[in-house]
Amino acid sequence: MKKSSLDKQKNNKMWGGRFSTSPSELIEELNSSIQFDQILYIEDIEGSIAHSEMLSEQNIISKKEFLSIKSGLEQIKKEISNNEFNFSTKLEDIHMNIENRLVEIIGDIGKKLHTARSRNDQVATDIKLWLRKKIDVIELSLKNLQRTLIEKSEKYYDLLMPGYTHLQVGQPVTFGHHMLAYVEMFGRDRGRLLDCRKRMNELPLGSAALAGTSYPIDRHFVADKLGFSKPTENSMDAVADRDFAIEFMSASSLIAIHLSRFAEELVIWSSDRFNFVKLPENFTTGSSIMPQKRNPDAAELIRAKPGRIFGNLISLMTVLKGLPMTYGKDMQEDKEPIIDTVKNIELCILNMEAMIGDIEPIPEKMMEALQEGFPTATDLADYLVKNLKIPFREAHHLTGKIVLLAETKMTSLENLTLEDIQSVVPKVDLTVLDVLKIQNSVSSRTSYGGTAPKNVLKAIKNAKKRFLEG
Ligand code: ARG
Repeated sequence: MKKSSLDKQKNNKMWGGRFSTSPSELIEELNSSIQFDQILYIEDIEGSIAHSEMLSEQNIISKKEFLSIKSGLEQIKKEISNNEFNFSTKLEDIHMNIENRLVEIIGDIGKKLHTARSRNDQVATDIKLWLRKKIDVIELSLKNLQRTLIEKSEKYYDLLMPGYTHLQVGQPVTFGHHMLAYVEMFGRDRGRLLDCRKRMNELPLGSAALAGTSYPIDRHFVADKLGFSKPTENSMDAVADRDFAIEFMSASSLIAIHLSRFAEELVIWSSDRFNFVKLPENFTTGSSIMPQKRNPDAAELIRAKPGRIFGNLISLMTVLKGLPMTYGKDMQEDKEPIIDTVKNIELCILNMEAMIGDIEPIPEKMMEALQEGFPTATDLADYLVKNLKIPFREAHHLTGKIVLLAETKMTSLENLTLEDIQSVVPKVDLTVLDVLKIQNSVSSRTSYGGTAPKNVLKAIKNAKKRFLEG
């Protein structure tokens, strides 16, 4: 960061009036947030323009003064985006850095900008404005991920693979059905983000330090200008509130959980033993020592990210707990976790989406795995119930014996002969052999939400309507 001439100056220009000494160099590094809150500059300027326009509408400053403030702020925006702005840690944060520069550019009129507001309502407003945009981007990227998953499930709506519980083969499912499971999870994630955005969308500005202000301000005007649904109702709550950030970070934690579970499946599926999918080469890396390796690094990192994403949530919750009303400098600790969560959750979604787009299932390997683990055992038990009127618990027991027989013969249920099965349940006839077939098992799962390919096709149509339209 470039140093400004202010760094050599004695008392703080913005609040140094009642001080006879300048702050210790030690506190400066602890106290300043400009290193990370400069990311908010666009929102800070947006908020200041709306605020000063309102001040002029309310005749608290003149129209001319507003226009001068606005043009100064626009110049500052350019300076920062062109990397020509000298940030100073003495000026603590983005709010004071901008205000100080405004006075440098337009002179004393700039000193009127901070009328009827405080950094407490300003910072809450800036974070909300920034986070609101980020939520929109993240929500859209989840929608794109859903689209890619739906495309995959359309292509593989009837591709057979083992479905697992306890990571043991359970029952056959289709790859398309498996992809749609994630479509549902990301659908709920989008809902949570939008819900949190709705609650977040109240304007804190105009609450001033904590008690409101005696100036005749119009908070509805500012709320309108900045696209908030309304001003916050209570000035103390408005400056003390970071619920919105915690909600965002919990919603992000759930996204991270979902992505991490998916990533773990990709790691398992792409391992030598499973070999169910080929990950796109450009999302894997080689080993510097073992020439044969193709490591699923992207998936592994997505699997690991909940570590920091939960950490960020816990960090802000811990900062806020026990904090008395209203603002405390503690709250400055909100920004780094929020920014880190936004950055990482975005990265993970984008990587996952790109990876899934190019993933190639290996049907033979999935079929091979279906030959192990007796995935149609439940179908056999159900057959005994439906055709021989054997109570389910007993049918379960008899099927267990048939599985044991197949295991001793080192074969699959599908490859048992009628005689084999009759040695356990003498009354069965040839029709039993049909239910042991993997394909038949899958096609029979036609209950609502089940894996039968014709259901999957319907579910895809539904998912498109529910998640991609509008
Ligand atoms: N940099 C501060 C923060 O991020 C801005 C608000 C400071 N307010 C105050 N009264 N010191 O929280």
